[in-house]
Amino acid sequence: MNDPYSTSWHRDKTLFTPGPLTTSLSVKQAMLHDAGSWHYEFHKVVNSIRDRLLAIAGVEREKDGYEVVLLQGSGTYGVEATLASAVPETGKVLVLSNGAYGERIIAMLRLMKVDFDVIRTAEDVPPDPSAVENTLRQNPDLTHVIMVHCETTTGIMNPIHEVGRIVREQGRQFIVDAMSSFGALPISFQDGCIDYLISSPNKCLEGVPGFTYVILRRALLEANRGHQRSLSMDLLHQMEYFEQKGQFRYTPPTHTLLAFHQALLEFEEEGGLPGREKRYRHNHAVLMEEMTRLGFRAHLDPSIQSPIITSFHFPDDPAFEFKKFYMLLSDQGMIIYPGKLTDTECFRIGNIGRIFEHDIRQLALAIERALKIMGVTLT
Ligand SMILES: Cc1ncc(COP(=O)(O)O)c(C=O)c1O
Repeated sequence: MNDPYSTSWHRDKTLFTPGPLTTSLSVKQAMLHDAGSWHYEFHKVVNSIRDRLLAIAGVEREKDGYEVVLLQGSGTYGVEATLASAVPETGKVLVLSNGAYGERIIAMLRLMKVDFDVIRTAEDVPPDPSAVENTLRQNPDLTHVIMVHCETTTGIMNPIHEVGRIVREQGRQFIVDAMSSFGALPISFQDGCIDYLISSPNKCLEGVPGFTYVILRRALLEANRGHQRSLSMDLLHQMEYFEQKGQFRYTPPTHTLLAFHQALLEFEEEGGLPGREKRYRHNHAVLMEEMTRLGFRAHLDPSIQSPIITSFHFPDDPAFEFKKFYMLLSDQGMIIYPGKLTDTECFRIGNIGRIFEHDIRQLALAIERALKIMGVTLT
């Protein structure tokens, strides 16, 4: 079989996706080691990752009462683990949904048989904080509010800080899925009154997939002792295990953790969050310039568009066929992302990962060539 990922392949295709994404060679090389998961040297790496994540979040253990728990699995596991660890049997969750990841949260709550309400807005409309306030005032049985920061379905930015302040004023707990924003966009745990934040190594921090992490207020997690709904996804038990034994309860993805440690060092070298944000914003500005030049239309209004991932409408020309377009780009070494909107034909381009202005310009040239081959004209 011709293995496209074998070492004879001269280079990997560039991923213009929201993760897994293109990583640096040194992050990939960091995985070329066999680490013993019970060994003290590996525990040092895990502890260093935990400390560094709290520093990126801008919170301290003693002063602010926050802790970070790493857990095997992808980002979805982190969201599910948080719900399973934070919401007691008597709890009721308000979900703010405007995309596929909000809907996934609803699916989890249904399966866990947790009571919930939904404030649903269209995929191109952020939730209205005053609607959240009214709902919380009228429904004293609601105990938690959960929302997605950057809804990767479209790339829309949702107002977590405004909603968080309301949630805290109303005496409820606030959970944020910041999968595709943490590390690249400023998030204030204090101003946003965030109690639980879930993210992933293979997004803006440019690691590889294999685990997830939750930054949380430990007093709240401890207060829910005895009400966890899962064994392997019990964040409280895992938090205590890290503290007592310095390690994961079950087999950790050792290679992924080594890679993530290297990714964090490179994040710091780039100037931390401001440095990462600057590059991604520049990548996004170049992408918009090039796509506008080619005649594409973005789905979202610029005021609510994230600098992470952008949805573009299919051209009106009937000669456009996404599958063919995708393959023509792949043949030129570039991978884009299909759309995920329920009622609009779009494709998505991510500009995160180890990519720079010249990669975006190369993509634009490849798109131009693909359109020419397909005979598509944009008006
Ligand atoms: C906002 C958001 N939430 C949740 C997820 C799910 O993460 P995973 O695919 O790693 O399970 C994603 C994945 O892209 C995401 O963007």
